[in-house]
Amino acid sequence: MSHVVEVRIPDLGGASGVKVIEWLVAVGDTVALEQPLLTLESEKATLDVPSPVAGKVLTLHVATGANAGEGTLVATVAAADVPASPLVEASSLAVPRPLSAAPSPATPVSLPASVASLPAAESVSVPAPPLLPTTLPSINEVSFSKAHASPSVRRFARELGVDLGQVRGSGVKARITHEDVKGWVKQRLSGAADRGATAAASANWPRVPTADFAIFGPVSVQPLTRIQRISGPRLHASWVNLPHVTQFDQADITALEATRHQLQDAAAKRGVKLTPLAFVIRACARVIAQYPKFASSLDSTGENLVYKQYLHIGFAADTPGGLVVPVIRDADRKDVYALAGELAELSAKARAGKLKVTDMQGGCFTISSLGGIGGTLFTPIINAPEVAILGVSKSAHQPHWDGAQFVPRLMLPLSLSYDHRVIDGAEGARFTTALAAQLADVAGLLEALP
Ligand code: COA
Repeated sequence: MSHVVEVRIPDLGGASGVKVIEWLVAVGDTVALEQPLLTLESEKATLDVPSPVAGKVLTLHVATGANAGEGTLVATVAAADVPASPLVEASSLAVPRPLSAAPSPATPVSLPASVASLPAAESVSVPAPPLLPTTLPSINEVSFSKAHASPSVRRFARELGVDLGQVRGSGVKARITHEDVKGWVKQRLSGAADRGATAAASANWPRVPTADFAIFGPVSVQPLTRIQRISGPRLHASWVNLPHVTQFDQADITALEATRHQLQDAAAKRGVKLTPLAFVIRACARVIAQYPKFASSLDSTGENLVYKQYLHIGFAADTPGGLVVPVIRDADRKDVYALAGELAELSAKARAGKLKVTDMQGGCFTISSLGGIGGTLFTPIINAPEVAILGVSKSAHQPHWDGAQFVPRLMLPLSLSYDHRVIDGAEGARFTTALAAQLADVAGLLEALP
């Protein structure tokens, strides 16, 4: 059983010109005993009208902005059948007791003025611990007490650790509302996030000098390309946030290259050209199957590793506009011919500036091949939130001691950068060792896919 309770404006101690300035509940809300329902403002003070019972709000009888006086009916509340103790937490009322089909006649209740008329400047004496002690400034009691806000807003601000003196009010006469407090906290949080990002980039670090180069001779100025403007900050973020370690190794690809040349005719019949990179991708897919951590990512808390049940591999492509990283989806389910076909197709799209955003998303691991250009070793930057990237340089013949003599072997330089928060040095070395062994085993790379 429940009964309906009328909520009326209590004795205001002679105050006139009182206005409803904010409703703190809506029809259908479950309220606890003494939970503030609405805020009134007189010429002298702001005060909250609390609910005389625990229950469910049935009707709001006056609109925001309406004038009210002592005895004005402002709301009706269906009281829960068992009166809630003031100590019962609001959350325990989240499932309201069923109301009887025919509510009993409304019972008028007048509120003790002492409950309702808290002066505007009064503050709650026991502050809750601030929600974000590291990001919110401490409360200045003087400015807090002077802030134009209702008792419930003050209480709310205390609970969050918000200094009301810093919050700009959007209500009547610049009164601070609940929404203003929430908005201020949100702003602080996003501001903190932004500052965190820029702080990572610039926190007390010495700046590189800039110079007026024209003093020393003629110059021309060219803006960075769109791709550079996008990829630059991402590379920088990875560089400053991820502890990079680069493990170098080399793979004997003498047999692989011989086989690749032999297969070129068969590949041409399928309309593809087999480049070393297709074999490297196949080898990475097989080795990542043994070491799945290399295709994992840290989650947003930085405390869990996310293992993906798919393997999309990205490859860095050099284009006139700058570096882009198209992604080959399900690279572990494709043979070298299919990989070579996709490599050619995506590289052509990249160079023509025709890649879609989705062509560059979802990568788990990246390969950056400079083999067609030159160089020996380099230190690639991890394509975060991935945790590892393989750099491949130009293969070259090297003398190899076979126990009796030096023999020429074609060696492929590998440079694996990994996020040391996720991958240990031993794992990094195991990965490159396994990758080198896999690249030396061309038969394995050509095995039919399961
Ligand atoms: N060692 C020796 N030769 C190599 C090689 C290697 N590791 N990798 C490729 N080659 C050879 C190829 O066999 C080919 O030779 P061929 O024409 O005589 O057969 C030639 O180099 C060119 O290959 P390429 O067209 O580059 O094909 P690919 O599949 O190896 O690479 C891309 C495709 C898109 C990755 C490549 O063109 C590219 O853009 N690389 C640059 C990536 C980059 O900028 N990384 C830096 C990021 S910071």
